[in-house]
Amino acid sequence: MTDRETWATRIGFILASIGSAVGLGNIWRFPYQTAEFGGAAFLLVYLLAVVVIGLPAILAEFVVGRRADISAISAFDALDHPGWRAVGALGVFGGFWTLSYYSVVGGWVFRYIGASVTGGYLEAPGEYFGAVSAGPEALALHAAFMLVTVGIVAFGIRGGIEKATKVMVPSIVILLVGLAVYAFTLPGSGAGYQYFLSPDFGALMENYQTVVPAAVGQALFSLSLGFAVMITYASYIDDDENLFVDGGAIALTNTLIGITAGLVVFPLLAVQGGGYGEAGPGAIFVSIPTALSDVPFGSAVGFVFFLIVAVAALSSAISLLEVVVSHLVDTYGFERRRTTVLLGGIVFALGIPSALDTAWLTWFDAIGVNLLLPTAVLLVVVFVGWVLADDAVEEIRKGADGFETVGTVWLWSIRSIVFLAVLGTVALSLFELTGAPL
Ligand code: PFF
Repeated sequence: MTDRETWATRIGFILASIGSAVGLGNIWRFPYQTAEFGGAAFLLVYLLAVVVIGLPAILAEFVVGRRADISAISAFDALDHPGWRAVGALGVFGGFWTLSYYSVVGGWVFRYIGASVTGGYLEAPGEYFGAVSAGPEALALHAAFMLVTVGIVAFGIRGGIEKATKVMVPSIVILLVGLAVYAFTLPGSGAGYQYFLSPDFGALMENYQTVVPAAVGQALFSLSLGFAVMITYASYIDDDENLFVDGGAIALTNTLIGITAGLVVFPLLAVQGGGYGEAGPGAIFVSIPTALSDVPFGSAVGFVFFLIVAVAALSSAISLLEVVVSHLVDTYGFERRRTTVLLGGIVFALGIPSALDTAWLTWFDAIGVNLLLPTAVLLVVVFVGWVLADDAVEEIRKGADGFETVGTVWLWSIRSIVFLAVLGTVALSLFELTGAPL
């Protein structure tokens, strides 16, 4: 085997992981999930889910990747448990599947950057979204989004992903904070903060059966778990890194960026008259443009907003593609550039139905995010908690002097609360997808 690449710097790994975590999940999915499940109360449960479930789970993926030093499927061979290869395969497949429609949404975002300049969506945002979200143009923009993704991944870990995310992540932070400050100045934005930040515990107690699984699902998706991204990214790091610190920094930054996105989206929704709960997946493509027609510098704000969403989506898409590319490169010795182009083409083809009809996109999303993702997380949790067990604790303690007790607590959290919460999420998704009564 040829020498495998590694990240040039520790911050490079952290920024690439943050780039993967921060994506459509933070800016598109998080606000509308928060709106659908009751505003601030959802935010609170989500924060708890990130700390108690997301963080231990991301560490579990890191442990597998770093210990194995190889991409997600062969990792299980390298750890002497070839019977578990299917778990890696499920993650790789899930990522491939999800990228196919993630890229279609990325294409919509490209379109909205352009339409911000021409003001195209300001006149009749609902009709505009209906007209551009499916069809030949959506297909062409899906192709454009995949092309950029391929263009980055083809250059590898150091030359492509690390270089790109070093610029992308700080840009997202600066521009998003700028927009949040702008949103603060809008008259009428107060109602948005109220909705986003002051929890209604009564409603939470009544609806906890739906709110809790949704918050757990969002935490897993937002931290890029399940699709072997964190296994793959951690396979390129060294043993002297403190995984607790890295994982904590990634989870914290991702959460802060999600909250900042809320501080942009909710004031804008308030300006356009509230109706948070009804916004749904169209929230940023319909409600935000509706608000933009009413605010000062609407077009410029729209341009910056959709630019942020595009950069965030790209830095996540590259991680999904990298998982599959690194599998073929590591396992079969394929040449990276050609493999990346080929896989990009296959992902594009898989996304064709989603680009032509949003009903397909919704279906791909339901299978990918509600079923494949939590199932893959569950299997990794079982593997790390019970199969690797003490070896996992030994691995996580490397480079983490002073965290010995935390290592043990971590393993037990994986075996108890993380396992139960993810199992519950998978079970509920199965009931929902099969329509079985609870
Ligand atoms: N975390 C990304 C987002 O929030 O948009 C989505 C994602 C990327 C999920 C990569 C899973 C993954 F493996």
